This record gives sequence, C-alpha cells and structure tokens, in this order.
Amino acid sequence: MTGLETVLAGLWLMLPTLIPNSAAVLFGGGPPIDLGKSWRGRRILGDGKTWRGFFGGSFAGMAFGLVQIGVTEDLGVTDTWGFGSMPWSVVVVICLAFGAMIGDSIGSFIKRRLGFERGHKAPGLDQFNFVIGAFIVVLIFQPLWFAKHYIEGDGIYALVVFLIVVPILHRISNIIGYKLGKKDVPW
Ligand code: CTP
Ligand code: MG
Repeated sequence: MTGLETVLAGLWLMLPTLIPNSAAVLFGGGPPIDLGKSWRGRRILGDGKTWRGFFGGSFAGMAFGLVQIGVTEDLGVTDTWGFGSMPWSVVVVICLAFGAMIGDSIGSFIKRRLGFERGHKAPGLDQFNFVIGAFIVVLIFQPLWFAKHYIEGDGIYALVVFLIVVPILHRISNIIGYKLGKKDVPW
C-alpha cells in the first residue's frame, strides 16, 4: 500500500462512523431518549436526541458497513480496504456505527450540563463527539484493527487527514440538513 492508498482506505473505513450523524437527522423524531426528563434543572439529553435518530443513525452506518464488507470480500481486499476477516469485521462496523451515536448522545449530555440549550453551538464537541465515541468503542473491542489502519506506519496520516476532513463534512451535511428543512440551524 502506498501512503495515499492508506489515507484513502482510512477515510473509506470511517464511513460507518460518518453516516450515522447525517442519517439521524433524516430518521429523527418521536420520543426523546431522555423521555423529557431533567437532571439538576436541565434536560438529561434534550429533544435533539431521539430513539428513532439513535437507532436510525446507528443502523444506517451499520448497513453501509455491511455493504462495504461484502464488496471488499468479493474483491479480496479485506485486509487493506476492508474491516478484516469475518466475524471480526462485523464487530468493527457495529463498534464504529453505534459508538458514533453513543458519542453523539454523550456530547449532548455534556452540552446540557454546561447549560447550552438544544442546537446551541459547542465548537469542537459538535464536530468530534461522534468520532471520539466511535474511537473509544472500537478501541475497547478491536484495538488492533484501529492501530493497523490509523496508528502504525502511514496509518497515522490516515488519522490526521480524517480528523481534518471531519469538521468540513460535518458542516456540509448540516447545511444540507438545513436546506432540506430537517435542521433549524445550518450548524
Ligand atoms: N437527531 C435525533 N436523534 C439523535 C441524534 C440526532 O433525532 N440521537 C436529530 C434531531 O432532529 C437533531 C438533529 O438530528 O435536532 C441534529 O442532531 P444534532 O446536531 O446532534 O442535535 P441538536 O439538535 O443540535 O442538539 P444538541 O444541542 O443536543 O446537539
Ligand atoms: Mg447540533
């Protein structure tokens, strides 16, 4: 693998982490995860975190990851452009997708504790909550897969490029969500 290939593969392998956030906007609605309950005078998570958004987002990321597994198995590139061999590849995909939505919920929990209302900007936290969630969950269950693609050798470049691309994609997807009338604010 050349350095460029490693970076491109690194971005491709993060799609199950990137998709849930945008998908949650499309699937969102219905009862909030915290069921409207408050803690110490503020909502636990707020109306922006719904069960439908959580599972719609997670399953969308997971479904896309399963398609990626199928494609890379067919092409025989599971080692470089895939999530490794079955069944661990499925574990990685589940960790990335659900980890993203868990991180997103924890991000909102932190925002409420800081006194920010739903939808209020929290620079840094808004862009990276889902990335941090996915990284932590995958590091718990499949640390060697993460190290192989994002730490060892040229992998570190894949990590750096991914972290630069995340806020840009986040901004673009929020503008699209706003234009579609799914979000009240374009951030
Ligand atoms: N969404 C959802 N359920 C989730 C995550 C997101 O329904 N678990 C939907 C909500 O409609 C939410 C939108 O996606 O308003 C955008 O998500 P996000 O920006 O994370 O939420 P905010 O409304 O900005 O709320 P917060 O301040 O808590 O981040
Ligand atoms: Mg927001």
